[in-house]
Amino acid sequence: MRTVRTVAEMRAALEEPWHRDERIGLVPTMGALHAGHVALLRAARRASDLVVMSLFVNPSQFDAADDLARYPRTEPEDLAVAESEGVDLVFAPTADELYPAGFDTWVEPGTLATILEGAARPGHFRGVATVCTKLFSIVRPTVAYFGQKDAQQVEVVRRVVADLDLDLAIDPVPTVRDPDGLALSSRNRFLSAADRASALALPRALEAGLSAHTTGGDPVAAARAVLDAERTLSVDYVAVADFDVPTLVSAVRIGGTRLIDNVRLRSR
Ligand code: PAJ
Repeated sequence: MRTVRTVAEMRAALEEPWHRDERIGLVPTMGALHAGHVALLRAARRASDLVVMSLFVNPSQFDAADDLARYPRTEPEDLAVAESEGVDLVFAPTADELYPAGFDTWVEPGTLATILEGAARPGHFRGVATVCTKLFSIVRPTVAYFGQKDAQQVEVVRRVVADLDLDLAIDPVPTVRDPDGLALSSRNRFLSAADRASALALPRALEAGLSAHTTGGDPVAAARAVLDAERTLSVDYVAVADFDVPTLVSAVRIGGTRLIDNVRLRSR
């Protein structure tokens, strides 16, 4: 496994694989890797000749400076995980490498970026769309892998790829959960034991919503009832989003930590 930090080194490392028309699988990450990221790496490994993982805490997608400052940075551990999962090439640039002085061009997603996570985090999806477009342009992957855990992100990235005629496929990977049902997230480490117990209302609420939906009931009302019963948690939103399939999405806050999760109301 090689780790490179500049766009020029990436292009040099990829010249041969591009020339040989190899299948290149890209897994974009911000590090702090957990079993959710590992599921993406394994999906990429199964289907690719060359697996590229990016490791970049993208400043432009953080709407709050303190959120960026406290984002976990665990590069040595992340590189060990990548190596053991058979990643071939890691791209771990500095912020200056991707956003040098004078950087002034953005990929601005439309309506999709103004609802739900986009409404709660202004500018977030512009940052995601811009960095993903840059990564696609640097790596030129055959397929890029994204987690269904961030369902709206998958929708935004698909929209960007379609609208800008980018030549790659987007493969969504199902959400990986802890045995208690909580979706894995780098933010879970900020939860105390008591916070974590309240956080479990989120997957429980989505399950309640899914079963209500399956039996002809209102998924939003069923999910909200479960969340409202958990006093230590505040609900940002619960809604059915019109993604590639209708998806019950929710965001909650517990103390200073914001968690999102979703469940698809229909299989693809
Ligand atoms: P990050 O939060 O590091 O997540 C990287 C990828 O892992 C995303 O596609 C995310 O959806 C996926 N992922 C996270 N938790 C998961 C889980 N429990 N199960 C399955 N997949 C999971 O998402 C980002 O970084 C950034 O926005 C990025 C796309 C890298 C752009 O900066």
